[in-house]
Amino acid sequence: MTTHTGDYTPEVRARLDADAEAILARYPEPRSALLPLLHLVQSEDGYISPAGIAFCADTLQITQAAVSAVATFYSQYKRRPNGEYTVGVCTNTLCAVMGGDIIFDRLSEHLGIGHDETTEDGKITLERLECNAACDFAPVMMINWEFFDYQTPASATEVVDAILAGQDVRPTRGSDRVATFKETSRVLAGFYDGRAGEGGAGGPATMVGLELARSEGWHAPGFAADGGPVSREQPDDAAPKVGEAGSSSERPPISDDDTRPSGPGGAGPTGTGKQPEDAGPVEPTEGQDPARRRQGSDDQEGTTE
Ligand code: FES
Repeated sequence: MTTHTGDYTPEVRARLDADAEAILARYPEPRSALLPLLHLVQSEDGYISPAGIAFCADTLQITQAAVSAVATFYSQYKRRPNGEYTVGVCTNTLCAVMGGDIIFDRLSEHLGIGHDETTEDGKITLERLECNAACDFAPVMMINWEFFDYQTPASATEVVDAILAGQDVRPTRGSDRVATFKETSRVLAGFYDGRAGEGGAGGPATMVGLELARSEGWHAPGFAADGGPVSREQPDDAAPKVGEAGSSSERPPISDDDTRPSGPGGAGPTGTGKQPEDAGPVEPTEGQDPARRRQGSDDQEGTTE
């Protein structure tokens, strides 16, 4: 496997190595640390840089192709230098009908950039966002994952103008100040910034359902009215065990799928009772470590950066 040390200076590399050591210590398998390591790279470079990919590969002893495959899968990892602030306008269904599309178009025109583009001064990257689970505050804009609720084209323009002027901006709920993209990335890498207690997360609209449920005495299955779990223990003789009279294995067919060989739970397309060769994950050959076989597969992919 080819590894590269990238182009970090020795000082930066030493700092990243120390951070990586702290991240890796949280996981039983080093490879599991890849996602926070990628956030760490973004906290340093503002995007997933070639040097950052090499750093992750070198740290985890996996190929750069494997790192790139993960980095390109998630939209939170940026393949080009990102703005100091990611301004995301939700244009998913509810926000769109409440004005999200109009807000996005206004900001796009005002900033002179489109989706996933960055202003020339490097301050703002504009994005269309999918639902942020804040539909009760629609239309919603997020800046570096902080909420700006009930936006209008005018209020959204005011916020981005403040950013362009170098001012701190404050979300409508949550933290006291929107952190920069690099600062946020470091938190996502798992390094606490001490600001989790700032502000409140929910607003009155969010709490309406909870308050209604409490007033009506409703609660989710498995939870008591106060939100605490209830016992799931059942008496041993609550239901017949598999194979016993009256168990589910004795249930008579009630649909075609119950008797069709290729149907759900059937015996497979051949009707022989055997599964087709590609029916499930391939097991490693005897004596072969699954992780090592995957490693070998990665090595064959080569490097892309
Ligand atoms: S549709 Fe915008 S937050 Fe849900």
